[in-house]
Amino acid sequence: VHAALHRGDLEGRRILVTAGPTVEPVDPVRFISNHSSGLQGYAVAAALAGRGADVRLVSGPVSLPTPPAVKRINVKTAEDMKAACLEQLPVDAAVCVAAVSDWRPASIHGSKMKKTGKEPPVLRLVENPDILATLSHLPDRPELVVGFAAETDNLQEHAEQKRQRKGCDWLLANDVSKHHFGGLRNQVLFLTGDGVECWPEMDKTALANQLAERVAFFFRGQS
Ligand code: CTP
Ligand code: CA
Repeated sequence: VHAALHRGDLEGRRILVTAGPTVEPVDPVRFISNHSSGLQGYAVAAALAGRGADVRLVSGPVSLPTPPAVKRINVKTAEDMKAACLEQLPVDAAVCVAAVSDWRPASIHGSKMKKTGKEPPVLRLVENPDILATLSHLPDRPELVVGFAAETDNLQEHAEQKRQRKGCDWLLANDVSKHHFGGLRNQVLFLTGDGVECWPEMDKTALANQLAERVAFFFRGQS
């Protein structure tokens, strides 16, 4: 009933959402990735689309259906994800939920790496582009940029530093020592330039709906 009252209040707003892991190839048969299920990002995309937003979901490989009315762009690597996000611009808001691989192999072997009977190979890694920071620092940036953060300690301090370093407006920070990737529930600190709110533990759909509500409130009353 509550959600129905607000249906359509994000109509006309174009919103970019990133979700899922990225996958970084090592050779034709191997990769580096992480355990992101995509559940939280897909729930955010669904909640925003449910309020009428034109949602562009840039997604790493996950086994989830595309939420109704959402336009999904599939990517694998962090570099592909960044390029796909920039292609969706301009957007009114960007919500980065993807678990972007922080590093990728410095070079991709063209053929399958083989055992040699000698020392195992050493993987040299290079840092991936930071998509959230890139979007936040664009000269013509989205009006609202939102990130999610996973921390294991000093949650509030690390999260506030991260929010400022990334240049995003809002950050939802999650203690992954309590609520790990792939779980159904989440508990976050919601950080904005105005301060911190401790949101209660709830399932990922409820969290997505609460965030969508805040996004709608942010845009309410604007042209
Ligand atoms: N993010 C991103 N691009 C990256 C890394 C992270 O867009 N290359 C985004 C994530 O989608 C998330 C936010 O940044 O919204 C925070 O991700 P997190 O991994 O917590 O932060 P990092 O800056 O990667 O720091 P850490 O060393 O703690 O992993
Ligand atoms: Ca990271």
